[in-house]
Amino acid sequence: MQVKSPKNTKEYLLKNLTECRQLTLNLFTNIDQETFSNQAHPDFSPVGWHLGHIAFTESYWILEKCANLSPLFPQYHQLFAADGLPKSERENLPELENILDYLTIVRKQVFQYLESAPLETQEKLWIWLLQHESQHGETITLILELHRLNKQKLPQLTPNKQSEIILKNESILIPAGEFILGNNNLEAIDNESPENSIYLDGFYLDKYPVMCYKYKEFMENGGYQKREFWSEEGWQWLAKNPVSKPLYWSDSPEFNYHPVCGVNYYESEAYCNFIGKRLPTEMEWEKAASWDNLTGKKSLYTNNCNHNLLVGNTTPVNSYSEEKSPSGCYDMLGNVWEWTNSYFAGYPSFKYYLYPGYSQVYFDHKHRVLRGGSWATRPWALRTTFRNWYHPWVREIFAGFRCANDL
Ligand code: AVJ
Ligand code: FE
Repeated sequence: MQVKSPKNTKEYLLKNLTECRQLTLNLFTNIDQETFSNQAHPDFSPVGWHLGHIAFTESYWILEKCANLSPLFPQYHQLFAADGLPKSERENLPELENILDYLTIVRKQVFQYLESAPLETQEKLWIWLLQHESQHGETITLILELHRLNKQKLPQLTPNKQSEIILKNESILIPAGEFILGNNNLEAIDNESPENSIYLDGFYLDKYPVMCYKYKEFMENGGYQKREFWSEEGWQWLAKNPVSKPLYWSDSPEFNYHPVCGVNYYESEAYCNFIGKRLPTEMEWEKAASWDNLTGKKSLYTNNCNHNLLVGNTTPVNSYSEEKSPSGCYDMLGNVWEWTNSYFAGYPSFKYYLYPGYSQVYFDHKHRVLRGGSWATRPWALRTTFRNWYHPWVREIFAGFRCANDL
């Protein structure tokens, strides 16, 4: 979501920080103690930790670093700092009530400070804060879904009616040429900057993400059994984690035209090998999502897509049929994150913001980039330049993929 006018930054911040907070708190209504404080999976911290971490981040950067106040709850520092404790040691948490108080007390002082804060120099920081809570909101949703899976409850699926016509994917030609990668706007995260002009050879990208009925063909053709489809690393992962379907897989034909989700990088790569295609690079993905060859302009946003828990599940890939990228691809933003074959790395002349631990420590040739946002992505983090990253083995409930091909 774009910051409309810098002149109104204060208004914008009050309104949007409050809206974002309400969305965060909604996730905790009627939560039970176990769900609150237990890890759903070793890859993720408990949701209660994320809630405390949101308060801590605001308290640390605004109240301590900007307002020069002494720490409000120093006893929470180590627990809720991103670099404080390993994920497995974050289960011993204060009660929900106490964390809610922490959030309220910090927020009150933060808004008091905002009244006279020098936004000329702090604008970037405040907008970063909003981005930060947005992202934790999505991660909390992801973990809540994992808890639901652990309890063997099927997700609340509310699939749309299936049409009679078979929905086919097709390849869209993205012609060779230069485009502008990245984003220098205020809301851009450090890893999206700086913008730079790069040349890409022509390639094909599928109009839609891979749909469940197509992924099913992979499963029915020995996709999870045949060595030939898998990379060495992927095959080793599969040997240690013998699965034969995506996390949250539903066989119901009602999901035929939904994007497959709950797959990791290795599974995405194996499917591409099965059909003789490949994953796009993140540069290819961004060009197809944003670049208008005719005008030489870049489109960054749309709210006309499945995001922000508006639907609460995936939707058929052609549900937002009036919304396509300049090149003619659909469903690029929202619905599911899309794995790319790019390692997460800094763009040329990368500078960290706000601290190296945000992005830079993950430039380790071990994380792969996902693009496009999901049905749970907050509007503030939904844009064609946004980069998400995970280890290739993480089976993210909100993640699917789209295939590319050489000319
Ligand atoms: C973009 C989801 C990978 O949670 O590690 C939040 C976002 N970074 N606080 C993460 C983030 C610091 C990040 N992801
Ligand atoms: Fe964080």
